Amino acid sequence: MPIKICVLVGSLREESYNRQLAEGLIHLPEAREHTFAFADIGALPLYSEEQDNDPPEAVKRLRELVRDSDAILFVTPEYNRSIPGVLKNAIDHGSRPYGQSVWAGKPSAVIGTSIGQIGTALAQSHLRMVLAYLDVPLMDQPEAYIQWKEGLVAQDHTIAESSRDFLANWMSAFFTFIQRHQGG
Ligand code: FNR
Repeated sequence: MPIKICVLVGSLREESYNRQLAEGLIHLPEAREHTFAFADIGALPLYSEEQDNDPPEAVKRLRELVRDSDAILFVTPEYNRSIPGVLKNAIDHGSRPYGQSVWAGKPSAVIGTSIGQIGTALAQSHLRMVLAYLDVPLMDQPEAYIQWKEGLVAQDHTIAESSRDFLANWMSAFFTFIQRHQGG
């Protein structure tokens, strides 16, 4: 059965390595039967509780996209040993109004790449803590901390041979994890 996956990339940078990694993952042959939609987190205003019940269009779009998805793929850089504010902002938007969070129960996986050697390990750890609070079922293993190297993902979204099997295995594990949550 095709799975609908919402992709959240924690970088707004046009040439974002994390965006390139996300594109590489969703273009793997293993992902072919599934559908992916990127959330436009750059269009979101800064979260304010005052707008909970009358949210701007961009917030409505995010909430609808997540509600309509079977699962979420988080692809995040590490900023100052944590997650970027733009990603936390998006998560906060989706978590409200109180009691109506769109995240709860959505099977999810976290991955990320940075130029640093720990490959977003600390950002992912912070993100896992936030998602656990939001009652998000998270794939624990395999983990993927990717140090970005030039050529890791080509223009046509092909992943370099040195990392392809590892990342294909990671994506396949995510699909299995989602299907298990769907009772499949
Ligand atoms: C960084 N970067 C970074 N890298 C890292 O491994 N650990 C860190 O804590 C930080 N902190 C950090 C803070 C800020 C404000 C910036 C702008 C950058 C470097 C980061 O890995 C690099 O800029 C990546 O290219 C960001 O990901 P995207 O935008 O390419 O997806």
